[in-house]
Amino acid sequence: MKVEALPVTKGDYNLADYDQAYESFDWKEVEKEFSWSETGRVNLAHEAIDRHAETHRKNKVALYYRDPERNEKYTFADMKKLSNQAANVLKNFGDVEKGDRVFIFMPRSPELYFSILGAIKLGAIVGPLFEAFMEGAVRDRLEDSGAKVLVTTPELLERVPVDELPELKHVFLIGDGVKEDDVHIDFMAKFKEASKKLSVEWVDREDGLILHYTSGSTGKPKGVLHVHNAMLQHYQTTKWVLDLQEEDVYWCTADPGWVTGTSYGIFGPWLAGASNVIVGGRFKPEHWYKTIEDYGVTVWYSAPTAFRMLMGAGDEIVKQFDLGSLRHILSVGEPLNPEVVRWGMKVFNLRIHDTWWMTETGGQLICNYPSIEVKPGSMGKPFPGVKAAIVDDQGNELPPNRMGNLAIKKGWPSMMRQIWNNPQKYDSYFMPGDWYVSGDSAYMDEEGYFWFQGRVDDVIMTSGERVGPFEVESKLVEHPAVAEAGVIGKPDPVRGEIIKAFIALRDGYEISDELKEEIRTFVKKGLAAHAAPREIEFRDKLPKTRSGKIMRRVLKAWELDLPTGDLSTMED
Ligand code: PRX
Repeated sequence: MKVEALPVTKGDYNLADYDQAYESFDWKEVEKEFSWSETGRVNLAHEAIDRHAETHRKNKVALYYRDPERNEKYTFADMKKLSNQAANVLKNFGDVEKGDRVFIFMPRSPELYFSILGAIKLGAIVGPLFEAFMEGAVRDRLEDSGAKVLVTTPELLERVPVDELPELKHVFLIGDGVKEDDVHIDFMAKFKEASKKLSVEWVDREDGLILHYTSGSTGKPKGVLHVHNAMLQHYQTTKWVLDLQEEDVYWCTADPGWVTGTSYGIFGPWLAGASNVIVGGRFKPEHWYKTIEDYGVTVWYSAPTAFRMLMGAGDEIVKQFDLGSLRHILSVGEPLNPEVVRWGMKVFNLRIHDTWWMTETGGQLICNYPSIEVKPGSMGKPFPGVKAAIVDDQGNELPPNRMGNLAIKKGWPSMMRQIWNNPQKYDSYFMPGDWYVSGDSAYMDEEGYFWFQGRVDDVIMTSGERVGPFEVESKLVEHPAVAEAGVIGKPDPVRGEIIKAFIALRDGYEISDELKEEIRTFVKKGLAAHAAPREIEFRDKLPKTRSGKIMRRVLKAWELDLPTGDLSTMED
């Protein structure tokens, strides 16, 4: 299909000439940006905060924070002191040391960011958990990682089965009415008293930084470990893809429970010394536009689902706000529909720049840059220093316009270094020829633009969140009425996909709307709201292989009225 490319608009972009940069770029050059090239040791939090607090950026606003209750701002000098205080609390009352896993489970607030930075300053590995997780999801992650310390709120504490987690030694609570004992500690009481001075723990570039749990098509969520070295990628992509410049006011809408909310909600923008807007509370089109207007946001990073919801809210509300400050818009997480790009041109008069990457890749890899043409529907071109290709199942590179596995040559700085506790799983990501295989299928056109085609596996993307069907199925069969369950992603115009469950009931249970609702609530309470099936269909029997595996492919074919394909492995 021929698409009309959107031309470049004039501007003084950090990356003026993509082709030339792609030819000559060397990651070694980026190392020179940081103090560690001389010392051999490093700490990302120092580079992101403390370093700026010693320069002309000292009194520059690092964080603009607001939610329905709070409205605050902090300079880089403030952030240095506040993250030092958080570090001192974690160290003195939680015995946090280098390499310890410190999990943070709470809604967005300035303290969440101080705690993440503070833990990193101690050399700890941070595990951010999305606030919507319920007990099962929280337990799985704390257990697998062997978390020693948790920072949470009194409200969320009931979802943390502290007694069942022998390795969890200290739980810090941020909020009112904290009752302290051997395990539970009042974070804010200690924080107010804590010293603003700290000797940062200098670590090796390959030491652990952050652990993000993410879903695959089989098994429990897996812990993707990133190391301090990832900052090379965070920094350089922030420069060239987000195009952050000194005067910019940047807003990334992602929660730090997901990788976009850390790599580009914390690390990238602060490594680049930018003013970073962070907004808590729920999504509402009016609030979003108001945020852009009030702060004069210039660079905005969001997701297709959000853009589609804004599009659905209509063009009239856009006109009630002055969005003239915006100069650069980006998207990540799912395919960005050409229709959304056209809507962006209409209402903002700006191109929306798609970017492709994954939790496992730690940073952006294939992107649309302000200084290249945008082909709506394409993810763009590989970042300089990154070799991307379409390969067959043996790892052979395919020529342009052939669909295959989207693969990246090993060696970009922010690549995951481990799947926590699971070396086999880690190895399964790689193919001969040193290819990291993404699990996405795609093709590349003659001009080197990449086009997303779908997932190779059954992973579901709903509202930009990655959900493993196996996790949902496992939860469903815990319900007493459910004999078998198969879960698929069903295409949805706003959410990308919704979760649909096919369920066979146990004998003695009757199909009813109440039962559907009960099952849905069961998953919501056990896993997370976003993991609960929006649609449930009851069937007498589910299609299975002879070895008993639910054939999601067949369920999908039923749902979409497609041919079911080869059924030779199906049981009678
Ligand atoms: O399928 C791709 C899709 O999201 C997957 C990664 O999900 P997650 O680890 O949760 O990270 C999301 C944010 C970094 C990919 O394998 N995906 C991500 N970006 C795009 C995308 N699909 C199409 N176009 C994109 N730009």
